[in-house]
Amino acid sequence: MLFGVILSLLSIGPALADITVDFTGYSPDGNNIYKYYYTSSVDITKIKLNNIAQDVGFLVVQVHTQFENVTLSNSSRIVYGAYVSGTNLGLVWSSLSSTATFYLIRNIKVESSVGFLLAVTVYDEYDPVPGGCNLSFDVPVAPYQVINYNNDYLTVKSQPPSAYGVSCEKNPIKIEMFHYYFNHYDSDSRTYFDGIEKMLTVEDIRNVSRLVGKDLGYQKHNRMFSNYRGRGRAFVLIASYKGRSAAYVPAVSYGCDAMNWKYDCSELSSEFWKVCRAVLLILGGLLCFQGHKMFRLTMFLIGFIFGVLITFIVVSVEHASHNGYGLISLLIGFFYGVFWLFVWWKFGVPLLSVQLTMILSGGLIASITMNQLGDYNAFALDINYWLTFSCIVIAYMIIGVAVMMHGHIVSCVVIGSYAVIAAISYYIDGNMEFIFVNFFRRVVVKNFGYAVLDPPFLIFTDTFLCIMWILLFLVGVKLQSRYQRNRSPFPPNRNVSLERPLSETTPLLYSEAYPSPPEYSATP
Ligand SMILES: *[C@@H]1O[C@H](CO)[C@@H](O)[C@H](O)[C@H]1NC(C)=O
Ligand SMILES: *[C@@H]1O[C@H](CO)[C@@H](O)[C@H](O)[C@H]1NC(C)=O
Ligand SMILES: *[C@@H]1O[C@H](CO)[C@@H](O)[C@H](O)[C@H]1NC(C)=O
Ligand SMILES: *[C@@H]1O[C@H](CO)[C@@H](O)[C@H](O)[C@H]1NC(C)=O
Repeated sequence: MLFGVILSLLSIGPALADITVDFTGYSPDGNNIYKYYYTSSVDITKIKLNNIAQDVGFLVVQVHTQFENVTLSNSSRIVYGAYVSGTNLGLVWSSLSSTATFYLIRNIKVESSVGFLLAVTVYDEYDPVPGGCNLSFDVPVAPYQVINYNNDYLTVKSQPPSAYGVSCEKNPIKIEMFHYYFNHYDSDSRTYFDGIEKMLTVEDIRNVSRLVGKDLGYQKHNRMFSNYRGRGRAFVLIASYKGRSAAYVPAVSYGCDAMNWKYDCSELSSEFWKVCRAVLLILGGLLCFQGHKMFRLTMFLIGFIFGVLITFIVVSVEHASHNGYGLISLLIGFFYGVFWLFVWWKFGVPLLSVQLTMILSGGLIASITMNQLGDYNAFALDINYWLTFSCIVIAYMIIGVAVMMHGHIVSCVVIGSYAVIAAISYYIDGNMEFIFVNFFRRVVVKNFGYAVLDPPFLIFTDTFLCIMWILLFLVGVKLQSRYQRNRSPFPPNRNVSLERPLSETTPLLYSEAYPSPPEYSATP
C-alpha cells in the first residue's frame, strides 16, 4: 500500500520527459526536414538534437499542437524574449555547437496528454532567416506568425526576414505569402496535421498552396484575410534572397474557436437562422421558377430583400457591429415589401417596377465578379472597387431594360437561384454564401479593401453547387419564358385582368361573373 502511495505521489507534480533526436544525416543540401509525432503527458518535455552537422547554418525548430497552447523555450525556465506560446510555434537555433536543446512546457492542460508535431527545418548559413529582423515580437528572431481573428477578418502578423550581410532598414529580401485551405470542413486532427505537413518546406509550399495575390507593399507583415468561419487554413511566408529561400513556421486558423466547434464554427447555427434558411430556400425557388408569373409576390419579395439589405447595412455601419440586427431588419424589410407592392398596385408601370429587381440582380452579378477580381491590388482602393461595381450594375440594367420582360425573368432567376444555392450551401457546408458575405463586409467593415478574399472552394461540394446553380438558372429561364409565350409581357397591376377580352385562356368563371369589358379599356 505504501508503495502505491509513493507511486501516485510520483506521478503528480512536474515530471520531465526527454526526446532525443539523432541529427546525423540532416543537412541543408540533403535531407533538410525532420518531422515526427510525439505525445506528452508531462509538464516539461526536453527536446534534444544531437550530432548537428557543421554545415548547418541555422535550424527552425517547430512544435505544432492542435488545440492546447504550449510554450516552446530554449531554457527550462521562462525567460523574456526566449520563448513563444501558442499552437504553431517555432524558434531559430544557430550556434557552432553540435547539440541544441529546447523545452516544451505545458501550462494549461486541455487534456491529460497532448499530441504534437515536432519539425526541424535545416538551413544554410547564407539562407535568409525567417523573422530575423526584430520589429514587433518579443522574440528577436521570430520565425513564427501570430493570427488574430474576429467575425469578419483574420490578421496574420510576422517579422521581416534577415540575411547574411543585409541590413534590416533597407530590406531587399523578397517575401511571398501562401495559404492553403484544408479540403474538409472539420476540426479533425488528421486534416489539421496533414495540412501543416504540406507547408513545412519551400518546395512543398510552392507545390500545394496558393500564393496570396493581393500584395500591398507596406502590409507584407501584417496581412488581412476575409474570415471564412470553420474553414481551416494554414498560412506561411517564404523569404527569398539571391536565389535562396526559407520558409516561416506555418500557422493555422479556423477563424473561430475550434474547441467549441458546434457553436462557434458552424455559421449561424441558431434556430432563428435555420428558419431563415428554410424560408430562403422556398422563396428562392418561387422566384426562380415563378418569379415573373407571380408578379405581385415578386414585387413584395424584392422590396423586402432590398429593405432588409439596406436596413442591415445602415444599422451595421452605424453600430460598427452586425450582431443581433436580423429581426429588426426583417421587420423593416416587410414594410419595404409592402411599399413596393403598393407602388405596382397604384401605378402599374412595369418600367418602374422592374428596376429594383434589376438593381438587385445586377448587384449580385457584380458581387460575383468582384469576388473573383477582388484580389487584384487595384481593387483595394474603394473608388476603383465601387466604380467597377456600379458600372457592372448599370450595364446590366441598361441591357435588362432594353429587353424588359426577358430582363425581368432573368433577374428573378438570378436572384432566386442564388438564394436556393446559398441556402443549400449552408446545409452542406459549401462556400457559395461568401459571395454575398464578402460584398456585405466590403460595405460594412472598415479597411476591408485590404483583405485578401481568395474564397475557399471545396472540390466536390462547391463544384456540385456550381453545376446546380447553372442548371437552376437554365431551367428557370426556360420555364418562365415558355410560360410567357402568347401572354402579355406584364400582368395587369390590379384586378383589371377581369377586363381582358375573352380568349381561350380566360377562365370561364370570370366570363360568367363579369361582363366582357368595354372597348376603351382593352389591353393592347
Ligand atoms: C490559447 O491562447 C490564445 C491567445 O492567448 C487564446 O485566445 C486561446 O483561447 C487559448 N486557447 C486555449 C485552448 O487555451
Ligand atoms: C535563448 O534565446 C535567447 C534569445 O534568442 C538568447 O539570447 C539566449 O542566449 C538563448 N539561450 C540559450 C541557452 O541558447
Ligand atoms: C524587439 O522589438 C521590440 C519592439 O520594438 C522591443 O520591445 C524589444 O526590446 C526588441 N528586442 C530586441 C532583443 O531588440
Ligand atoms: C506536388 O504535390 C503532388 C500532390 O499534391 C505530389 O504528387 C507531387 O509529388 C508533388 N511534387 C513535388 C515536387 O513535391
